[in-house]
Amino acid sequence: MKHIKTLSIISTAVLLIASVSFLVWKFVPNPVPVEEVFPGRIWAKPVTQLPDLQGVGAPRAENCGKCHAEIYQEWKTSTHSHALSDLQFQAELSKPSSPQWICLNCHIPVQNQREKIVVALNHGKYEEPVEVPNPGFDPKMKEEAVTCATCHVRVDEQGKSYVIGANGNTSPPHPVKINASLLRNRCYDCHNETYELNSSLVCSFQTGTELKEAASHFADKDCVSCHLPTVKRSFVIAELGKSKKDSHKHSFIGGGVPKKFELYQHQIPGGYSPGIVLESWEKKDSDSILVKVKNQNAGHYLPSGDPERHLKLELIWLDDSRKAISKDEIRIGQEWEWSPKARKTSDNRLRPKEIREWRKEIPEGKVKSAILRVYHIRLKNVVSDYVEKYATGAPEQYQVKIKELKKHYPHSSLVLESEFDLNTKKVKNTSLKDLFEINEKRRGE
Ligand code: HEC
Ligand code: HEC
Ligand code: HEC
Ligand code: HEC
Ligand code: HEC
Repeated sequence: MKHIKTLSIISTAVLLIASVSFLVWKFVPNPVPVEEVFPGRIWAKPVTQLPDLQGVGAPRAENCGKCHAEIYQEWKTSTHSHALSDLQFQAELSKPSSPQWICLNCHIPVQNQREKIVVALNHGKYEEPVEVPNPGFDPKMKEEAVTCATCHVRVDEQGKSYVIGANGNTSPPHPVKINASLLRNRCYDCHNETYELNSSLVCSFQTGTELKEAASHFADKDCVSCHLPTVKRSFVIAELGKSKKDSHKHSFIGGGVPKKFELYQHQIPGGYSPGIVLESWEKKDSDSILVKVKNQNAGHYLPSGDPERHLKLELIWLDDSRKAISKDEIRIGQEWEWSPKARKTSDNRLRPKEIREWRKEIPEGKVKSAILRVYHIRLKNVVSDYVEKYATGAPEQYQVKIKELKKHYPHSSLVLESEFDLNTKKVKNTSLKDLFEINEKRRGE
């Protein structure tokens, strides 16, 4: 009997030790530095805290704008300045499973913008950031999202803030260091990242790689050549009496689907041009037509960036009285399966300069003409129905708008419209200006 008793004492002891060590592992903190968990990942940390900039004060966009007024106004209309107030972003951020600190590292990337600093990850787990309050938190700068300082301000060895410029031979009231390639390549830190946090949380932006792949077509072009087009003007307000130079528009126009309906009017002045253009219409024989479109203007795949972006091409057949007889549709984009494991299942995006042919039989009936419409869709209605459900977790200021997402958040834009008369073979294209007036009034996908 005695040995059984000893055995049970031993097993109880073993069990006790195991549970205690589990509890110790679980509840006694074991902080691991962020850079050990995510080595070499720039998005794993915000830009270090920036002290006041000599001649400027707090390194806020608002302050830069006092002298760089035009650049500031352009940036105010950009997606970059809306990367925090973006309603879809706010909804997704509020999901309980969202690794908020990681999202914020790209969407509000400077430490001054953060209430809390992540000092380590408990047990090396991204779900368990160890956070302390940030005494240098600037709530105004937080709202500026991808602010000027993201690309332009850093701290030197003496702990002083300076501006990164690309020109030289300028006379600013603030310190500058010239490093054109650092400034111009900054885009890659956020727009060229693929990382699998867990099986269903994947970040996949390959715009930089896609551009490299297209080097034969765009050898001398980088992101800045197309997204910050050159304009001759003074860098600063006229009162400062500086000469005109090659300056860069800071509207960062992309796919032509802005974050608010009011911003549609800034797309064309900001430099928008659709990647896709009509190459040709042809009537092949009496019963079919061939329409060709081309990725003429984008130096990367079309569409690039967020995996949900896609183009919808519609072909509408009209009779004499301009009544629609029937409609055909194709989709250009990536398709992903998100659960149980995130996985790309197909990708028919247009490579740079690629031509896509669409041959279609003319339907029965008295067809007079065909209209091609191309929509750039950033958010589908079914996805926004789902996004609306996360409204209640979001900060109060966004909740009402997220609940009525279609009313407040542009989902798509009509970016090309062309009509082909089957008898006369005449082609009529709608101007970009007219399309964007239509877009401002459209709602949903
Ligand atoms: C008090 C006015 C003022 C403020 C505020 C100001 N700047 Fe400037 N900045 C200038 C002037 C003046 C120049 C030089 C223009 C020239 O010589 O043509 C300049 C030049 C620059 C340049 C180009 C330098 C080069 O040689 O390439 C950059 C970039 C720049 N500023 C960024 C910023 C940023 C970012 C902020 C805010 C953090 C800021 N500036 C705030 C006045 C200002
Ligand atoms: C590596 C940097 C990076 C991280 C980390 C990141 N994002 Fe983004 N996010 C981007 C970029 C770049 C875009 C713009 C892509 C585009 O316009 O197609 C973007 C766009 C978005 C958009 C707008 C989508 C659209 O189609 O316009 C949402 C919503 C979003 N991110 C949510 C999140 C959430 C939630 C997280 C955290 C789970 C997160 N992001 C983490 C870089 C990042
Ligand atoms: C710190 C991260 C970061 C850096 C650096 C960055 N971006 Fe972005 N960018 C973003 C995020 C995040 C978004 C999307 C915000 C959203 O949709 O809410 C975005 C959106 C854009 C868009 C708008 C897409 C659209 O259709 O509205 C363009 C264009 C763009 N970025 C170009 C650039 C270029 C060019 C550079 C380099 C000069 C650059 N970005 C650097 C984070 C960054
Ligand atoms: C996403 C990165 C990014 C952001 C954000 C950004 N800039 Fe720039 N900025 C650039 C690049 C890239 C250039 C052009 C570099 C070159 O000349 O090769 C530039 C150029 C400039 C110049 C030199 C004059 C010119 O137009 O080329 C000034 C001044 C300037 N930026 C001010 C600002 C201010 C002010 C803000 C905020 C309102 C801002 N920038 C936001 C990337 C950025
Ligand atoms: C040769 C010109 C060109 C170059 C180079 C270029 N882009 Fe674009 N980009 C465009 C055009 C045009 C569009 C609009 C595409 C469309 O119709 O949706 C675009 C769209 C985008 C979008 C929105 C997604 C989309 O497909 O509409 C993002 C984000 C973007 N570009 C980022 C970048 C970044 C980052 C780089 C550098 C790695 C870059 N671009 C280089 C021309 C260019």
